[in-house]
Amino acid sequence: MNLRILGIETSCDETGVAIYDGERGILADHLYSQVDAHRQYGGVVPEIASRDHVRKLAPMVAAVLVEAGLAASDLDGVAYTAGPGLAGALLVGAGFARGFAWGLGIPALGVHHMEGHLLAPLLEPGGPQPPFLALLVSGGHTLLVSVAAYGRYEIIGESVDDAAGEAFDKVAKMLNLGYPGGPAVEALAREGDPARFQFPRPMTDRPGLDMSFSGLKTHVVNTLRGAAPAPNLNADIARGFSDAVVDTFAIKIRRALKQTGMKTLVVAGGVSANQALRAKLNELCAGLGATAAFPRLRYATDNGAMIAFVGYLRLAAGEHDGSPFKVLPRWPMTTLGALGEGKAAG
Ligand code: KG4
Ligand code: ZN
Repeated sequence: MNLRILGIETSCDETGVAIYDGERGILADHLYSQVDAHRQYGGVVPEIASRDHVRKLAPMVAAVLVEAGLAASDLDGVAYTAGPGLAGALLVGAGFARGFAWGLGIPALGVHHMEGHLLAPLLEPGGPQPPFLALLVSGGHTLLVSVAAYGRYEIIGESVDDAAGEAFDKVAKMLNLGYPGGPAVEALAREGDPARFQFPRPMTDRPGLDMSFSGLKTHVVNTLRGAAPAPNLNADIARGFSDAVVDTFAIKIRRALKQTGMKTLVVAGGVSANQALRAKLNELCAGLGATAAFPRLRYATDNGAMIAFVGYLRLAAGEHDGSPFKVLPRWPMTTLGALGEGKAAG
């Protein structure tokens, strides 16, 4: 039986609402970014995020239904991000989704935000299928995941300190680029001289797949303090930092592909929007006879489509929430079960 699933994402500073149809794919996909509300504070303010989700969510659900040409009664289930994320922001999405589903007499399911990111590249026509190696790089997570099957996730490497996206955001602040930082650092780095600064490639001189990005911040600060002012200084620093992050990922991924024998790499999460990272990992995989898959840019950062898609896979496998109502601001991905095992937020 075909299912049409409404997906709701409210874990941080984007309200995302989409409808996934098992036969036709994404029917409608709306995204509202709160960037303007948080910019003056230099980062996400949780209370403002929650309130903005409250304001936007119901009208956005109405709008995706109109765009998809559906009535609410045509929906077969509602999926929402149950974690990880900001507790208040998650509660807005969870409360709405559970109430909406209850009113319609259809199942609801809390899904894992990072599983959404992880599977977003599979929304593309001809997208990869497990098994594959995944690099998940967002504002809160930097994970190398061995994906044996849907829901079978083994973390084989991770950042021991800052997530890569967090490092981009912090470096953006140091370079007075404001929030959100990643795209601004990327744009500035493109103008920088790659030969001027050689930043370290942290933890690449020892075996293993773990990573560290907080030391790079210190290098950025020290370089800023130590260098004579010059017109291109900030661009050159952004380039040195960006090249170091990208190279570090390439070194660790080469190791992980060799170690696991996998031939497919999936890269997802906000930092996967970075074009320098995409180019480097495409080149690396081509050299190793492997293939790299990325989400389209709209699905790299937070969005409702990835939540509708994961919700579809799990609801179609018979999972749904039980009566307890909860969100999980911290939620290890490795506790998810295979599709249909039902070990979700319930
Ligand atoms: O996945 P995401 O939208 O939200 C989280 O789940 O965290 O990721 C946001 C992160 C931010 O740290 C942002 O600076 C980073 O992804 N990011 C980028 C780029 N676009 C977003 N980092 C580097 N280059 C980019 N183009
Ligand atoms: Zn995210």
